[in-house]
Amino acid sequence: GSAGAAAAFTLAGCLGGGGSGSETITIGSDIPYRPFEYETTEGELVGFDVDIAQAVFTDELGYEHEFQKTSFDSIIPSLNNGNFRVIMSAMTITEDRAEQIDFSDPYFTAYQTVIVLNQSDISSKEDLRGVTVGVQKGTTGESAATSLKEEFGGDLTIQSYDQVTGAFDALRNNQVSAVVNDNTVNAAFVEQSDNVRFLEGAGAAEEQGKENAPPYLTLTVEEYGIGFRQDDDDLREEVNGALQTIRDNGTYDEIYSEYFSG
Ligand code: ARG
Repeated sequence: GSAGAAAAFTLAGCLGGGGSGSETITIGSDIPYRPFEYETTEGELVGFDVDIAQAVFTDELGYEHEFQKTSFDSIIPSLNNGNFRVIMSAMTITEDRAEQIDFSDPYFTAYQTVIVLNQSDISSKEDLRGVTVGVQKGTTGESAATSLKEEFGGDLTIQSYDQVTGAFDALRNNQVSAVVNDNTVNAAFVEQSDNVRFLEGAGAAEEQGKENAPPYLTLTVEEYGIGFRQDDDDLREEVNGALQTIRDNGTYDEIYSEYFSG
């Protein structure tokens, strides 16, 4: 809220942090992407990214900040066109993207996972051969599905949706047999549905020796970063400092445990 933001700004001012005046950092994000950025039934924007943004940009650095809804598929050109200052959208750091924008230090580990309806005959990765999978357009879920398609010699159909909710609806309506998407977002959907499950099996997380690997099939291991224009080094450095501070002082863990139990 604005009262909290103002108090935090005063504090940051006293500590000499930021020195940013009342400048507002606009944050581009594709919403909904629960539990990272989504609206409650009362229309309040909440989520892990939303709380991290408050902690980093406002409480630590003394900026005002504001989320701006944008399509995920065009979020990088949109940042570079100046439509907003940074990207916070559960965005995976990838080589391709790092050629177009700069990223903060990683702030979250994620995995591509596969969900199906409970009654589906699909029970392993191999069973996906020949089926239609739903993904969100422009995401690493789409890339993971594309790799799978190559692995199957082309024997996979990929349906891309503008938002992840489109892919989830398609699964519910039997228009796709599976959805490939980030683990915690799939988990939130599984939790709120009574007829959706994860595909199980060892995968990328085990191959890479990840300690807190999710208990289901992982196609990739990924890290989220905050995205910046390539000429925005000063802000990126400030944000990296603030990310380190909130990891050191327990704020990160507090926010984490609000959204993730395991
Ligand atoms: N982590 C995935 C990616 O970077 C999906 C992100 C989608 N984010 C969103 N807010 N819709 O491609």
